[in-house]
Amino acid sequence: MHRFRIGVLTSGGDCPGLNAVIRATVASAHNLGWEVLGFIDGYEGLLSPINYKVLTLENTQGIMSIGGTIIGTTNRGRFVAKSGMGEKAMIPQSIIDEAKKTLEDLGVRALVCIGGDGSLTTADQLFENGVPVVGVPKTIDNDLSATAMTFGFDSAVQCVADALDRLHTTAASHKRVMVLEVMGRHAGWIALYGGVAGSADAILIPEIPFSYEKLATFVDKRMSGGASATLIVVAEGATPRGGEIQTIDGATKGEVRLGGIGAQVAHEIGERTKRETRVVVLGHLQRGGAPTTQDRNLGTRFGVGAVQLIQDKKFGHMVSYLNYQIGAVTIKEAVGQIKHVPPDSQMVKTAQAVGISFGT
Ligand code: F6P
Repeated sequence: MHRFRIGVLTSGGDCPGLNAVIRATVASAHNLGWEVLGFIDGYEGLLSPINYKVLTLENTQGIMSIGGTIIGTTNRGRFVAKSGMGEKAMIPQSIIDEAKKTLEDLGVRALVCIGGDGSLTTADQLFENGVPVVGVPKTIDNDLSATAMTFGFDSAVQCVADALDRLHTTAASHKRVMVLEVMGRHAGWIALYGGVAGSADAILIPEIPFSYEKLATFVDKRMSGGASATLIVVAEGATPRGGEIQTIDGATKGEVRLGGIGAQVAHEIGERTKRETRVVVLGHLQRGGAPTTQDRNLGTRFGVGAVQLIQDKKFGHMVSYLNYQIGAVTIKEAVGQIKHVPPDSQMVKTAQAVGISFGT
């Protein structure tokens, strides 16, 4: 008879801090005398060919500072449960049954699912089918409403601020306008926090549709007034008033790949102000590399919290971070609730008070 056994998997896009969660889950489970199986490449590891490895204190040592996930992830696998904002696609019963059987055959008594909105929707479907699941929220976009913060977000913000620090010097040397496109599908948290920390001059976010005319006037006024450069941060999901979201291949349905708004903003502002304008797309640099200390601590707290949920038999729940404390909410109430940047929030007002334009 083997020890009390739990499973852990990481699903969806990776982000810094995932390994901190894995390490903390293994360490706190080990303290209870439990064994941990890490399923490889997210939910895919539960399906034929079944793929997992036993996670120990030894093989999770030193992973805290490493980006990505040591057990792999996938967001385009057989388990895709969501095909776009608010569109819930049910996973076929045969897939659910196969995953359930894998867990039963391996004697896994609880499964820790670390993932974003879509992956947690899958977790909830497993829970509804009798799988003892607990969730850990993950999104660098920080757009899950049931938690004040997710790990990975702070690392992404740091990356944006670093990029802006570098862009300031080259832009100022050439008296240019620089546009930095950052992640943020539905919400502009990364753009807002990264932009303020990196002293951007304008920040464009999905929650505040902007006007090219107003933005161009703002840029022109700054540059004519003697500013050596203008830095504009634009979230990938931002749109001009009455405009469309920009996608990589023009696709409009499902979990489309966003991109292109940075180039569009640079083009429009260049045309309208006749000033030299360049664009940088920060892309997956925001998701790679070592997590910040804040993300390491939050990831560790979430991992320990997930094991506590299992001890408390609070299946169908996920850990959340509210009022500086780790708590629990049902996965059901957490998914499908995008946390937008309130346009009248204190942080937006703070940005405006230091002269940052939102293109309005
Ligand atoms: O949802 C997180 C996110 O980083 C988005 O900001 C971005 O649009 C997307 O993932 C990129 O996903 P992929 O790595 O699959 O291109």
